[in-house]
Amino acid sequence: MFILVIYDSQFGNTMRLARLIGEVMAKRADVTLRSCAEVKSEEVKAADLLVIGCPTQRHDLTPGVDAFLELNEYSGLAGKAAAVFDTRFHSFRWLTGSAARTTARRLEKAGAHLVAPPESFFVAGMQGPLEEGEAIRAVNWARALLQHEVGIRG
Ligand SMILES: Cc1cc2nc3c(=O)[nH]c(=O)nc-3n(C[C@H](O)[C@H](O)[C@H](O)COP(=O)(O)O)c2cc1C
Repeated sequence: MFILVIYDSQFGNTMRLARLIGEVMAKRADVTLRSCAEVKSEEVKAADLLVIGCPTQRHDLTPGVDAFLELNEYSGLAGKAAAVFDTRFHSFRWLTGSAARTTARRLEKAGAHLVAPPESFFVAGMQGPLEEGEAIRAVNWARALLQHEVGIRG
């Protein structure tokens, strides 16, 4: 099973979580970690599962993830299994927005199917750090995803 973990990150927090999630998943699958700027369309096409992490900026996803989705929405995403997470401030979603929600909607519009609801992990300030306990929560999220996916696909 090939899992492609894609992230954008301005201050490093989302990248840190993407790395952690990739490390957890690498115990039971082939995992490649790529920033949204460097990921190749062939890698997207080859993936059994896409995991996308994006910082919430201006209530929305980042220009980097937006560009990635635009580039792939008419080719590699149809029929693809996907899971998404964001980082954002710890407040009501209607106040903060959620990059994961927008990314999920865009993926579904492109024909991908989400294997889990969009997830958010919280930062304590604009540049981070992650709130206490968020790294562990991300590890557990990755474990649950993996269990679900490996259970289905072997
Ligand atoms: C230009 C800008 C706009 C932001 N807008 C929001 C926002 O609307 N809602 C929110 O919860 N966080 C917002 N943030 C905080 C980011 O979510 C935070 O910087 C991010 O989670 C950190 O992840 P990173 O280290 O991977 O960049 C904003 C940050 C920047 C730099």
